[in-house]
Amino acid sequence: MTIQIQVNGTMQSVDTDANTPLLYALRNDCDINSAKYGCGAGQCGSCTVIINGNPVRSCVTPVGSVKSNITTLESYKNDRVLSALNKAFITEQAVQCGFCIAGMMMSAKVLLDKNKKPTVRQIKSALNGNLCRCGTHTRIIKAIQLASKELA
Ligand code: FES
Ligand code: FES
Repeated sequence: MTIQIQVNGTMQSVDTDANTPLLYALRNDCDINSAKYGCGAGQCGSCTVIINGNPVRSCVTPVGSVKSNITTLESYKNDRVLSALNKAFITEQAVQCGFCIAGMMMSAKVLLDKNKKPTVRQIKSALNGNLCRCGTHTRIIKAIQLASKELA
C-alpha cells in the first residue's frame, strides 16, 4: 500500500506495509541517513526522530501510525537549535564513530526547545535513553552546554 508521511516538511509517498518500522521507511524510501539502526528494539536511541515535539524511537514505530511531521537531523540548516548543536558538537569534538550522534542531537533538541538553560542533571536525564558505546558522553554534555550558551 502507499502511505503518505511528512518528513522535514515535505510529503513523501512510501510503498510499504503500515506495520513497517518508520526507520526503514525513512532510510529506504525517503533518503534519510541520519537515523540509524542500532538495537531495533527501542533501547539504544540511535534511530531517534522528533514527532510532535517528542523524541520517538523510529525502529519500533509503525510507519502507518505516524500522522504528524517527522523531524530528522537532515533539517539542521533550517533549525536554529539543531544548527547550534551541530556547531557545538564539532567545536567540542563530541563525535567518535558518530553512530549515536543523530539520535543524541534529536534528544538534545527536544530538551533545548523546552529548556534553553538545562543543568547537567537535566541534560543527563534527557539523554538517558541514548546510548554511546564509544564513551563520548562527557564531550556530548559539554557540546549541549555550549549550544545552550549560544541560544541564550
Ligand atoms: Fe531504535 Fe535502538 S535502533 S532504539
Ligand atoms: Fe560512537 Fe557514540 S560516538 S556510538
